[in-house]
Amino acid sequence: MKPSAKAILAIVATIACAGVAHHLLTWNEGAGPVQPRVKEWIELPPPTDMDMPLREALQKRRSIREYLPEPIRINQLANILWAAQGITHGHGFRTAPSAGALYPIRVYVVIKKGGVDGLPAGVYVYDPHRHALGLVRTGDVSAPLMRACLGQEWVGKAPVDIVLVGYESVLRPRYGDRSFRYMAEEAGHIGQNIYLACTAMGLGTVAVGAFHDDEVKKILGITAPDAVPLYVFPIGVPAER
Ligand SMILES: Cc1cc2nc3c(=O)[nH]c(=O)nc-3n(C[C@H](O)[C@H](O)[C@H](O)COP(=O)(O)O)c2cc1C
Repeated sequence: MKPSAKAILAIVATIACAGVAHHLLTWNEGAGPVQPRVKEWIELPPPTDMDMPLREALQKRRSIREYLPEPIRINQLANILWAAQGITHGHGFRTAPSAGALYPIRVYVVIKKGGVDGLPAGVYVYDPHRHALGLVRTGDVSAPLMRACLGQEWVGKAPVDIVLVGYESVLRPRYGDRSFRYMAEEAGHIGQNIYLACTAMGLGTVAVGAFHDDEVKKILGITAPDAVPLYVFPIGVPAER
């Protein structure tokens, strides 16, 4: 039986609609994991020189767990986020390497009340394509985040915590069982960029790997089953310089 032109048209329209629906449901800014719903976008100032020779930054990098109770500046936060995942070349290539340039890691930012001048406390997501922060939820969640990190005080006291979240499903189709390993390796690259940017600007951070995944996800409002928090980086002005 030959399908009528009408039937063919209906099939094509259904496929097209499904494609559009899928695109809308999984819409995100460029490649990578699904973008969370964002209430408001805040453009960040462009990255600036961090004024410390690389040798000196490598020499001085240390894990810092005590911070002064003062905010960090928005341009400092912008520099750290750019160092973590900033777009540096065409095709979306970034400051940190990524297996197959698939970029499975999303950078979340938890801002404590008064943590960054001019920004309300809340959970934000960094969009490297816009070099902007997307407000996901308002409110100071630094205390629950500290509890989720086994009570590590530096997480609760830092004016800002950066959380790296990996989405394994971005890598699975290409890398199968090696996906988790690649994601963790990439988090290491991003983490070292965060350490060096902080050091170069006189800020302190520490890589925190001890936390309850489910609690961290809940605090950030992440429901994707494949999402895995990989690292938390509290950031602040060091108490001892
Ligand atoms: C995978 C990983 C997990 C870590 N987890 C924690 C942590 O949960 N809490 C913490 O205070 N430090 C943590 N650290 C930081 C180490 O304690 C620190 O790097 C180490 O003491 C060496 O000190 P340095 O970073 O100043 O060279 C972690 C480091 C790595 C690489």
